[in-house]
Amino acid sequence: MDKTKIKELNTRFKNATAQEIVQFCVAEFGSKIALSSSLGAEDQVLTHLLIAINPGVKIFTLDTGRLFPETYDLIDRTSRKYKKNIHVYFPDYAKVQTMVNKKGINLFYESIENRKECCHLRKIEPLQRAFKDLDAWICGLRAEQSVTRKEIEVIEWDENNQLIKVNPLAYWSEQQVWDYIHEHKIPYNTLHDKSYPSIGCQPCTRAIMEGEDVRAGRWYWENPDTKECGLHKR
Ligand code: ADX
Ligand code: SF4
Repeated sequence: MDKTKIKELNTRFKNATAQEIVQFCVAEFGSKIALSSSLGAEDQVLTHLLIAINPGVKIFTLDTGRLFPETYDLIDRTSRKYKKNIHVYFPDYAKVQTMVNKKGINLFYESIENRKECCHLRKIEPLQRAFKDLDAWICGLRAEQSVTRKEIEVIEWDENNQLIKVNPLAYWSEQQVWDYIHEHKIPYNTLHDKSYPSIGCQPCTRAIMEGEDVRAGRWYWENPDTKECGLHKR
């Protein structure tokens, strides 16, 4: 898919439903597309609509080893509800072991470099393994989520990873996500009801306070401009 085609599709998908976008991409990429799910609210919407379109499409998650118990519970509840195995990628244990023994179990609080190293070993390297069989990945990014995501489009060429990235919910509001979840009785992380709108690893996520940005609880000790783990580098 070249740049002209991507541009043409983004024009075509400006007012398309998420379902139409996913349907098109599944037909276009077949077994070479997968949903990358963190089990967040947006990913649960995508899981629901993807399974209705084609239950055979791969859904995978990156288990960093530091997730919340509520997230593991949701992996289980989601797999059972949809009778679908969510494929789990783990980090390379030897590399994590070396990092932790050298820098400490909670090294990420010490510096941005340490935090990025941990994210790299626990998320990026496993993600790169997931990409081996893929030409495209579907993500739950929304433009409203943060300053780093304002410019996202529905179909993008992911330069870092050299594959197509699809953001079917790019223009959705948080309200739309929740209306969809309630309307379709989609399972969701119980932490969302406890002021955790955005959920990552347990030590790097806190609840937000009233009036705070939805991603304020992620790497809450860092500046908003640096708050991407590398999964969505632009
Ligand atoms: S993050 O980069 O800050 O962690 P965020 O939690 O907002 O990202 O999630 C954005 C999208 O990235 C999700 O909708 C999902 O597509 C993908 N993603 C994030 N974390 C994971 C994960 N652990 N496993 C698989 N996909 C993930
Ligand atoms: Fe490590 Fe925190 Fe990144 Fe998770 S979010 S991989 S614990 S630095």
